[in-house]
This record gives sequence, C-alpha cells and structure tokens, in this order.
Amino acid sequence: MIQDDKDKHIDEFSGIETTGHEWDGIKELNNPSPRWWVWLFIVTIVWAIGYWYVYPAWPTFSGDGFRGGTQGRINWTQYKQLEESQNEILSRRAENLEQFQKNSIEDVMKHPQLFAFAVAGGKSAFKENCAGCHGSGAAGARGYPNLNDDDWLWGGSIENIYLTIKYGIRTDNPKTRASTMPSFKGMQEEDLKQIAAYVMSLSKGWRYTAEGKTKYEQMCLFCHGQDGVGNPSLGAANISDSIWLHVEDSNPGIVSQIENPKHGVMPAWEGRLDDATIKQLAIYVHSLGGGE
Ligand code: HEC
Ligand code: HEC
Repeated sequence: MIQDDKDKHIDEFSGIETTGHEWDGIKELNNPSPRWWVWLFIVTIVWAIGYWYVYPAWPTFSGDGFRGGTQGRINWTQYKQLEESQNEILSRRAENLEQFQKNSIEDVMKHPQLFAFAVAGGKSAFKENCAGCHGSGAAGARGYPNLNDDDWLWGGSIENIYLTIKYGIRTDNPKTRASTMPSFKGMQEEDLKQIAAYVMSLSKGWRYTAEGKTKYEQMCLFCHGQDGVGNPSLGAANISDSIWLHVEDSNPGIVSQIENPKHGVMPAWEGRLDDATIKQLAIYVHSLGGGE
C-alpha cells in the first residue's frame, strides 16, 4: 500500500529522509542521485547540444534548410557524403572507360585494372542481354552453346568471340557468321547408319566400318575435319568430343542431324550495344575459362 507525502519523515535507522512512499512496511529513502550519475547526465546533455550545433539534427518547421532540416555548423550530411562517393565512383568509371576505349583488347588484357573493369562491365551486360539464351552462368542449354568450355563453334580466341558477338550468327548483318550444313536426305539408310557409327566412334571409341569412314571423308570431312575435330571458320562443330549442341548422344541423334540439320541463330549486337560494351562482353566470355 502506497502512502502519501504527508507521511514523509526521517528514517530512524539511516537518519535519511524518506520520500513518503511505503510498500508493505518497506520505505523509500530520499537519497540523492549518485554523483557519477549526475555528471554523466550533464555530459549527455552537453553532448546533445553540441551535436545539434555541429550536425544536422532537427527538421525545420518550414521544411527549408538543407533537405528540410537544420544544416549543422560543419555542413556535413549523409546525403553529401553519398553524393561525393558516387561522384568519385562515376569519375573513376569514366576514367576507366576512357582508358578502356583508348586501348586495344590485347592491351586491356595485360592491364589488371582495366581487365577487371572490363570483366565487371561484361558480366553485367551479359546478365542483361545474353543470359536469356545462354543461361546466367553461360552454361547454355540444348541449342544454346555453353560458353564456359573449350568447345567452340566459331573459335574461342578473343578476336573470334568479339566478331561472333558483334556480327551474330546467321543474321541479316552483312558480316554475320554464316554457313549451313546441307541436308543429306534421301541417302540410303544403311549409309546413314554407317556414317553415324563412325561419328560416334570418334568420341566413344566404338567400332565402325571402313565404309562408314570413307563416306564420312567424302561427305563430311570438308567441314568437320579429319577425325571430326571441327572447323571454326565454318562454324562446323567438333563432333569428336561428346559435347553436343543440337543432337542426342546416340546414333539416331547423328542420323537425324544428317537428314535434317539444325542450325543455331545468334543475334548480332552491332548497333544494339556500343562497341565498348561488345569488347567488354568478349573479354568477359573469354575470361570464363574456355577462351583460347
Ligand atoms: C558445309 C559444311 C558441313 C558439312 C558438309 C557437314 N556439316 Fe555437320 N555441321 C555443319 C555446321 C555448320 C554445323 C553446326 C550447326 C550449328 O551448330 O548451328 C554442323 C553440325 C553437325 C552436327 C551437330 C553437332 C552438335 O554439337 O549438335 C553433327 C552431328 C554433324 N554436323 C554431323 C555431320 C555429318 C555426319 C556430316 C556428313 C554426312 C556433316 N555433318 C556434314 C556443317 C557441315
Ligand atoms: C536469342 C538467343 C541468343 C542470345 C540473346 C544470345 N545468344 Fe549467343 N548464341 C546463341 C546461339 C543459338 C548460338 C549458337 C549458334 C550456332 O549454332 O552456330 C550462340 C553462340 C554464341 C557464341 C559462339 C559460341 C561458339 O561456340 O563459337 C558466343 C561467343 C555467344 N553466343 C555470345 C553471346 C553473347 C555475349 C550474348 C549477349 C550479348 C549472346 N550470345 C546472346 C543464341 C543467343
């Protein structure tokens, strides 16, 4: 039970005045606050006033002042700090971009800072423009080549990658990469099977007939090369490595490509992306590990 102020009196044990509050016989002594506490209290008040003076701390009634608040003596705000660091990033980027544009791809590759700049730029441009077809990790899918491996249709040198991206594959661009595998429809089924068996033997070491090999050399070698290693100047796939872009990993898969060849189309990026971005993309793709 709480009692009133009128019950204030001197506590007989300690000799200190009570506040008059009493709970079930326990009385509250009116001790002064400890000195250290009082000082701390004063220091925080002084600190707060100093802070208000130095830093922007109060919103203004009119909404005037710097972004609707008091300005603070030292004129510092988080907005300004942010602006400064953003400007710094922008100017550094502009500087890098200028250097990047001035230098040839070869020189960029030798310059660690420009190289890192190019890879970062290429990576974000890739996410935006290429990941839809090639996958965000560039691992590809059926019909869309994996760009991480050493298997290149059109060549994996930085120059070749650049040209592929710029002019596209089988597009309207006058410099597009283009070539088509002819259809051999109408060929005897037996011949088809023997050629397919020879092609599969190249990666699997399976048995094949001399006839199959001869037919391959007559009809396919011109584009796919001796032992099926492929020919980047024709975009003719390496067919000796078990990495298949269009076909199933089986004899019927090969037969179907011989009869009804599939061809991929890749858009040209000239005119859609500026040359610096295309260069960055080439460097990024090349850096994925499969670059020659
Ligand atoms: C005029 C050149 C040319 C000739 C001749 C040719 N090819 Fe092709 N072949 C290509 C091209 C180009 C591609 C790649 C198409 C693509 O990826 O868009 C290809 C793709 C393939 C593929 C699919 C590869 C994959 O990764 O999916 C197979 C299999 C193949 N050819 C087998 C053959 C066989 C067998 C013959 C002979 C009967 C043959 N080709 C003759 C140009 C040719
Ligand atoms: C509309 C789908 C599509 C988009 C978008 C696309 N590609 Fe392709 N890309 C393809 C196809 C399909 C091929 C394979 C063409 C063929 O079969 O010859 C290819 C091939 C390539 C090759 C050649 C691979 C080789 O083995 O020689 C490179 C490099 C490449 N793309 C990079 C890019 C980059 C970089 C971008 C983004 C700027 C991009 N692609 C956007 C569909 C696409």
